[in-house]
Amino acid sequence: MTIIIKTPQQIEKMRVAGKLAGEVLDYIKPFVIAGVTTEELDKLCHDYMVEVQGTIPAPLNYAPKGHRPYPKSICTSVNHQVCHGVPGERKLKAGDIINLDITVIKDGYHGDSSRMYYVGEPSIQARRLCDISYECLWLGIAEVKPGAYLGDIGQAVQKHAEKNGFSVVREYCGHGIGQSFHEDPQVLHYGKRGDGVKLEAGMIFTIEPMINAGKRDIRQLGDGWTIVTKDHGLSAQWEHTILVTESSYEVLTLSAGAPPQPTLAG
Ligand code: MF3
Ligand code: CO
Ligand code: CO
Repeated sequence: MTIIIKTPQQIEKMRVAGKLAGEVLDYIKPFVIAGVTTEELDKLCHDYMVEVQGTIPAPLNYAPKGHRPYPKSICTSVNHQVCHGVPGERKLKAGDIINLDITVIKDGYHGDSSRMYYVGEPSIQARRLCDISYECLWLGIAEVKPGAYLGDIGQAVQKHAEKNGFSVVREYCGHGIGQSFHEDPQVLHYGKRGDGVKLEAGMIFTIEPMINAGKRDIRQLGDGWTIVTKDHGLSAQWEHTILVTESSYEVLTLSAGAPPQPTLAG
């Protein structure tokens, strides 16, 4: 395992890329309404990235080992889709929840962030799942400082999800990020305090918990990408890219429209 500690110059580039990823999530919000198709959202984001921002959509043609090249520029995961939902002809309808996951490349560096959106009014359960999973993300973030362990993040996320009757997906995790989309370390969203890699200033990684309303089990659809819950229960995910600073953390993917940090009971 090789964790790349970023230099001040690299950190500055990661700040720029991170903010741009957040700004795509801001830009697309008014378009997430009943009747729009997920491939229309993909096209809008693609054009915004390429033509307005001068960024490269990292997912397009991304082909990690064991995968066919990803065919679109963003991931759109609706309702029981957990992650990596491939945009297509599906029309959103009132009551749907959808995760939009954006990864941009600017000047060779990656910014990766995702948020949940409501199409019209969500059910009480859907709103609760989205709220709790957002709290899970921030409880994980709050653990980040030099000398802490990746296991501290995992435990904080898992504890809050399970306390609320939800489950944590284990097959996918957060990841180091920089000049590569996915670098070491793997950031698990479950685990035990004190386990795993010790954090150091200059590390940059994502935290991106996938939280299911029902059981944690998942399966992959025939498109080779889209992950869904086996029990067809709802799933929610939020993601930020995080820098370990000398004293704590800096969230690199904040933007003007990012939802505020939740008030956490601790
Ligand atoms: N953005 C996702 C992540 O958070 C990865 C998507 S890979 C893709 O790691 F190919 F599906 F886009
Ligand atoms: Co992402
Ligand atoms: Co990510």
